[in-house]
Amino acid sequence: MMRWLQHLLAFLVVAAPAAAETSPALSHGVLVSADMRPAIDLDGAWTWSIDPYRTGLKNFHGDAPSPTARRYNDFDVTEAMRHDPRALYEFDMDRAPVVHLPQSFLTYSPQMRYYSGLVWNQRRFTAHPQVGKRAFLRFGAVDYHAYVYLNGKFVGEHEGGFTPFSFEVTKLLRDGDNRLTVGADSARTAADVPPPSTDWENYGGITRPVSLVFTPATYIDDAWIRLTRDGRIVATVKLDGPAAANAPVRLTIPALKLTLSGRTAADGSWNAITAAPRSLKRWSPESPTLYDVRFVSGDDALNDRVGFRTIEVSGHDILLNGKPIFLRGISIHAEEFGDDPTRALTPAAAHALLTEAKQGLHANFVRLAHYPHPETMLRAADELGLLVWSEIPVYWVVDFKNEQTLKTALQIQTESIQRDRNRASIIIWSVGNETPVSDARNAFLRALIANAHRLDDTRLVSAALLASRKGNVQSIDDPIAPDLDVLAANTYNGWYTQDPLSNVPSIVWREPVDKPLIFSELGAGALAGYHDDPASPHKFSEEFQAEFYRQTLAEASKIPFLRGLSPWILKDFRSPNRQHPIYQQGWNRKGLESETGQRKQAFDVLASYYRSLEQRR
Ligand code: GCU
Repeated sequence: MMRWLQHLLAFLVVAAPAAAETSPALSHGVLVSADMRPAIDLDGAWTWSIDPYRTGLKNFHGDAPSPTARRYNDFDVTEAMRHDPRALYEFDMDRAPVVHLPQSFLTYSPQMRYYSGLVWNQRRFTAHPQVGKRAFLRFGAVDYHAYVYLNGKFVGEHEGGFTPFSFEVTKLLRDGDNRLTVGADSARTAADVPPPSTDWENYGGITRPVSLVFTPATYIDDAWIRLTRDGRIVATVKLDGPAAANAPVRLTIPALKLTLSGRTAADGSWNAITAAPRSLKRWSPESPTLYDVRFVSGDDALNDRVGFRTIEVSGHDILLNGKPIFLRGISIHAEEFGDDPTRALTPAAAHALLTEAKQGLHANFVRLAHYPHPETMLRAADELGLLVWSEIPVYWVVDFKNEQTLKTALQIQTESIQRDRNRASIIIWSVGNETPVSDARNAFLRALIANAHRLDDTRLVSAALLASRKGNVQSIDDPIAPDLDVLAANTYNGWYTQDPLSNVPSIVWREPVDKPLIFSELGAGALAGYHDDPASPHKFSEEFQAEFYRQTLAEASKIPFLRGLSPWILKDFRSPNRQHPIYQQGWNRKGLESETGQRKQAFDVLASYYRSLEQRR
């Protein structure tokens, strides 16, 4: 990672308010492909304790928390009170209720359904530190702010609800019993990314896997391999540790009979480049070929499964492996099927969602909105053959003038790109969704566009924009259009407007620059099972939603520079904004399926449209 960014990111970790007994550890490096490394799985049974006034972080004067509130104490509270009648503790993490993690704390109990704030989780685990090995606590994500303590000591904190982070605990880990305590605070401020107001449920808590990863003293912290547009395989590796400089590195791809080796530079980095072997089978939705890739350096080995493909823009076309492609997509939130979801996207839950897109809708593309999804979704997209739009939650009214907000957005974007740039399925990095235009917002998004291109020169950058409307002309006149590789717009004519659906196909679109356009959203709400007169259906009926799709697809098929669709949205999802007592009950009903996977009429309208596009290829 560039030195300037390390300094920049260094500002992001602020000392835990009066709770830090040691200086807060930075979220450590990348630990790329950590999900492929052997590790101690720390999912499973954790205890929990709510802390709505954050007494575990600060006392009522705003100073260090009193001992009576320190959930992270490294002793058994009941034992302590039994031995000393004067002792007082107003929590007991060893006897608190137990939940199975990862899951959002909204589903810990019926009373937690609408909780917003700080919850403490704790688990004990046995470990055996190994001489010469380093130990890292790795979190897939904690939504929104995490405070981590091991054996009573503050280890570090992280901001951002959807990206991985890790802390080195080599010196704190005990041989035998260890006590891990995590404070997860779901409350956000206007300066956060995203800000408090979103159109999705705020699933706070430890929502992705937790693990303890051991590495050699010097290990492969980052490794990225890709196919360049001029047909070469490029690999970059970054070692971390005392022997990172001038160290041997070897990359092998057995199925290609390819071995590259060399030694790192003084800063621990290694770059290799070679012509792609003629036998290379490129990754595509039709043929999602993945290769076993192995990086070795000293005592460390890192394995991954990687696809090789190219993506680029030529005029109005998006070229996959040099050929024009139309993105037959659907938008998806990271919320599993079921009537009480908790953002626990296991591999099976991820496959269930993506299989509906791939096999049900005949899709070749998914917009994973509005934040970096769990690794399970990207692994499944790689395996199933679905191209991916990945997004950071720069959503609606962000505090674009706030420097700290930009640092947080850059941190989240960097964590997302460094986690996922080995995933062939991802073709687009989105820097935002429906952000109101202003000079500050334009500068903010341009910084993110530059950071994305700096971290990854192989993919395209886009953003979901709002278009203006005059009569029957819809125009994308966004000042950042020239900075994007692909334009994208969210359109709801006939749902959020008074247009008769029969008028929608006559709407024409204008773009300010000759680039591919994606309809990143289009949709209408429907309560599964609510039927109405197809001749004049009312909103929220399946018939209205189906007719909305027929008419909007007719509008889309007339746009000469349209190269993709990701309609809003595969399935109904929880949103506190949506409170119609009959049609919504706290769910956004624009899904083509209900929350339990009951397909609505519009599902078949889109599936037939995509099947017809597929047959025309
Ligand atoms: C917006 C927004 C979505 C939202 C959708 C809707 O375009 O991007 O997050 O859910 O519209 O209104 O349903």
